[in-house]
Parts: sequence; structure tokens; C-alpha cells
Amino acid sequence: MDDLKSKYLGLIGNAADEAALEDIRLQAVGKKGEVALKMRELGKMTPEERQVMGPALNALKDEINSALTAKKVALEDAALDERLRGEWLDVTLPARHRRQGTIHPISQVSEELSAIFADMGFAVAEGPQIDSDWYSFDALNIPGHHPARAEMDTFYMHRAEGDDRPPHVLRPHTSPVQIRAMEKIGAPIRVIAPGRVYRADYDQTHTPMFHQVEGLAIDKDISMANLKWVLEEFLSAFFGKRVKTRFRASHFPFTEPSAEVDVQCRWENGSVTVGEGDDWLEVLGSGMVHPKVLQNAGIDPQEWQGFAFGIGIDRIAMLKYGIPDLRAFFDADLRWLRHYGFASLDQPNLHGGLNR
Ligand code: PHE
Repeated sequence: MDDLKSKYLGLIGNAADEAALEDIRLQAVGKKGEVALKMRELGKMTPEERQVMGPALNALKDEINSALTAKKVALEDAALDERLRGEWLDVTLPARHRRQGTIHPISQVSEELSAIFADMGFAVAEGPQIDSDWYSFDALNIPGHHPARAEMDTFYMHRAEGDDRPPHVLRPHTSPVQIRAMEKIGAPIRVIAPGRVYRADYDQTHTPMFHQVEGLAIDKDISMANLKWVLEEFLSAFFGKRVKTRFRASHFPFTEPSAEVDVQCRWENGSVTVGEGDDWLEVLGSGMVHPKVLQNAGIDPQEWQGFAFGIGIDRIAMLKYGIPDLRAFFDADLRWLRHYGFASLDQPNLHGGLNR
């Protein structure tokens, strides 16, 4: 009995891995193991012998089993130690440098202005960049012969020969989204619609594709005073300081009365600063939505009224971030993007300007 014990405890102590340990277990305390064989011999013994040998064999079995368990735990610990040593990682090593892209100033400014208008209760609406002449012109009270159509330098999408339907256009402004939003939502409504617009024009201050944000607010008694407040609030929040504005009487077929809005600025050595000085720079067109436009969008002008505006996004981005040439916006020059672009975690201070 004692030799069995020392034999197996020795084997267990020297087992190299869990597979070897399992072999020892079967050999010692398995169904056909050595201890089981001894148990079977109990039947041939005298009751006196059995009384001694029975408990002794059970104790031996227990001892071997606990030695097996203890060794198994020890082997597992050793395996884990080994793995940890092999997969050790120096987290203090400096990270490999990876170049990150930047956020284009137009995307940044679109986010900024959407957040400011959202604070004032405006939702964001969208419309197609290729649109019909109904949405782009007629619904906006710009009839076929109207000079505004020619003035907008519109790109036409020509139809196949023999197709007499009027051509679609690359939208020359975001105003068609006014009509689409009113058709979809009805009144009351408060939306902005930022997006791309297209006009056949190219010089230092004009590119054939540029960006506008349309604004529209229709309710029972919206007035020009609300328009002025919303625009001044927006400009101050956007530029981060109280910006003086100048409302100049103007004309758009889709608003009556209409006003163009200038912001106060100073020109110095070819660069411009907003919010100081004695110069003025035009940044947007606006006015009270023409009754015919409401009607064209299915809204009763006897019951509802409101304002609309269209702001040049590229223009205000240039002013805020001191970008001198509009054309560089769309050259996709990586050096320019690295200089004027924004890190993805840059969060603009959107609320400072709204605190008086
Ligand atoms: N759509 C006009 C433009 O592109 C701007 C505008 C929008 C004016 C809304 C008045 C009201 O010049």
C-alpha cells in the first residue's frame, strides 16, 4: 500500500503536462486502475482484513485524487505564466506615427452653422442637386422670361433629341429646397438646407460649384423683425462676437420685401477681419417669402407668412478662418487641407456667441 502511494505521488510530482497527468490518473484511480484492482481483491479477504484494507484503499484513492488536482492547478498556472511571458507587450513604446486626414473647412462650417440653427429650433432639410426647372425657378416665382434665370448662369442638363420636356438643371441655389420642405412638412415650419449649388462662373471669388445654406421659417405671425433677430444671432454665434449688420433693400422674385445683408469688417493689407472697422461685406440674401411661393408649395398665404434667407457658406468660411482664395477650397491640395483643415476632435465653441 505504501509503495503504491509513493509510486503515484512521485509520478504525479514529475508529470510534465496535463496529458501525462491524465495517463497517471487512469493508471492509478481509473476504472481499471491499480487501486480499483486492489478494491476488487477485498471480496476475497476475511472480514477482519477487509475492515482494515477497505478504509486504507479509500484513503489512498482520496490522497491520489487530491495530488492530481493540485498538480493540475500547478500545471495550468505554469502554462499561463509561460503564455504571459511569450505575449508580453511593451505598452510604453511610442506609437508609430500615422498621418490623419483633416476635416474640410466647408464641412466644419456646415456642422457649426447647423448646430447654431439647431439651437434656434431649425431642423435640417435636404433636396436634390439636379432639380427640375419648376422647383429651381417657376415655383419660386421666377417665370421663363425673368432675367434672374439668365443672371444665375445655370447649368442645363440637356434632354435627348426629340424629348420636349423642359431640361433639368444643376440647382443654382438652395431655394428649391424651400418648396420641397414646405410640400413635405407644411406649416408651421422651421428648416435650414445646407448644400452644394452650381453656376457657370470662375474667378478668385467664384467657383462653378459652391455652397449655400437656405433658411425658412413659416408661422402665423413671423415678421421681418424675427428675420433680423435670427440672422444677427446666427452671425454673432458663428463669428464668436457681436457683429454689426446692414440690411440693404434688394430684390428677389421669391421674397417681398427683400434685403441683402452685409457684415461689418475691416480690410487691412489684403486680409479682412469681421466685426470691426468701417467696411461692409455682403454675406446673404433674404426677405419675406412671396405669397405666390407659399401658394406654389401648397400653403395658404392668407393664413401663413414667414421669412427665407440664403447664406454663402464658402464666403463666411473664408471670413471666419482667414482663407484668401475661394478656388483653393476645391483644388484638393493636401498641403492646403493640412493647413486649413480641422482635426477630427476639434469642437467649435458654438455657444459662446449666444451669451450676451
Ligand atoms: N437664392 C438666393 C441666391 O441664391 C438667396 C436668397 C434665398 C434670397 C432666400 C432670399 C431668400 O442668391
